[in-house]
Amino acid sequence: MAHFLLSDDQLPTAWFNVLPRLGAEIQPPLHPGTKEPVSPDDLAPLFPNALIEQEMSSAPWIDIPGEVIDILKLWRPTPLVRAERLERELGTPARIYFKDEAVSPAGSHKPNTAVAQAFYNRQEGVRRLTTETGAGQWGSSLAFACAQFDLECKVYMVRASFNQKPYRKAMMELWGADVVPSPVDDESHPGSLGAAISDAVRDALSRDDSHYALGSVLNHVLLHQTLIGLEAKEQLALAGEVRPDVVLSSCGGGSNLGGIAFPFVEDQAVRLVAVEPTSCPTLTEGTFDYDFGDAAGMTPLLPMYTLGHDFVPPSIHAGGLRYHGDSPIISKLVKDGRMEACAYPQGKVFEAAVQFARAEGRIPAPEAAHAVRAAIDEALAAKQAGQERVILINLSGHGHLDLSAYDDFIHGRLIDA
Ligand SMILES: Cc1ncc(COP(=O)(O)O)c(C=O)c1O
Repeated sequence: MAHFLLSDDQLPTAWFNVLPRLGAEIQPPLHPGTKEPVSPDDLAPLFPNALIEQEMSSAPWIDIPGEVIDILKLWRPTPLVRAERLERELGTPARIYFKDEAVSPAGSHKPNTAVAQAFYNRQEGVRRLTTETGAGQWGSSLAFACAQFDLECKVYMVRASFNQKPYRKAMMELWGADVVPSPVDDESHPGSLGAAISDAVRDALSRDDSHYALGSVLNHVLLHQTLIGLEAKEQLALAGEVRPDVVLSSCGGGSNLGGIAFPFVEDQAVRLVAVEPTSCPTLTEGTFDYDFGDAAGMTPLLPMYTLGHDFVPPSIHAGGLRYHGDSPIISKLVKDGRMEACAYPQGKVFEAAVQFARAEGRIPAPEAAHAVRAAIDEALAAKQAGQERVILINLSGHGHLDLSAYDDFIHGRLIDA
């Protein structure tokens, strides 16, 4: 059997909070003006109280509200699939499992937190959310979630993606969002996630009815994604596995990686690996320091690996991985040696994605294809070592709206950055 499924009533009812299990507290975010640790009051213009509490919570588990569970059940629990056809083609003794987060309405893992964030904002009387989006996966997820809770949604989309991905924009508009290219004040700029965050934060701060929602990086966002790893743990047991030897995922701001990896963090026998693009090598080549989350220096300073908040990465197709920084929790795990990091150029990534699609059928999002690349290399290393490794990856999204990038790859036009 290749599919491992859970029933509706096996959807986890609490999120797994990794913060109290890190061994030591992570350094606090600092106020951008005073450089002192931020207080909940500093964050209140942007986020609802429930999310500010989750950001700093030391509770080991946090209950998921019933209204959030009801919406998550539209697509969760998601399947865990063993990639047997790919294993056979590679001739590897490794067993490769992928968690299929592409089955959500927006086509990625991002709605797991979008729904929770929209719920808490609505509960506290907010009428409108602003956000940034890179490739459009996060923007479309928040647009979907806002439609569920009757909230207005304004999305600042990185200009390069706005031009490359008209159907993502259509998807957001279909769910009722207003989408504009970013940066708003420079039409010749290709944009970056950091600049789009500045636009969205500036907008939220300028209106009383609005808050800001972030699709990655912050602790509460990664918390909401832990459903992925919690379900995968149950499903691996159904498959007869004791544990994965290695958990691999792509890393932009760290939310899908944190989501699948955190529930395994206390088991030291499980290797955890972040996979990033060589063109935006935050964990593999960045420095660990306090830096702003956005380009304009309006957000709190976060302790993280960073390439510098003014870094503008090349317009690679994995738009969701073009972020100068990383989640403070992921950064700490890498700094402490609990998590490894590796990087690939996009040509190698697309090669693996096509091999995966031809064997398993599913077409990965370019971001997710980074995990596929690393899984194939891990399976080939297992073959060389003659070892039966269990590899768990997150297929964080499908690539159905990224077909122009696949077209470029297949016809030799893709720049191997
Ligand atoms: C499909 C997909 N995977 C991965 C990512 C990377 O983000 P994160 O590291 O927060 O999971 C994105 C970001 O947009 C995405 O759309």
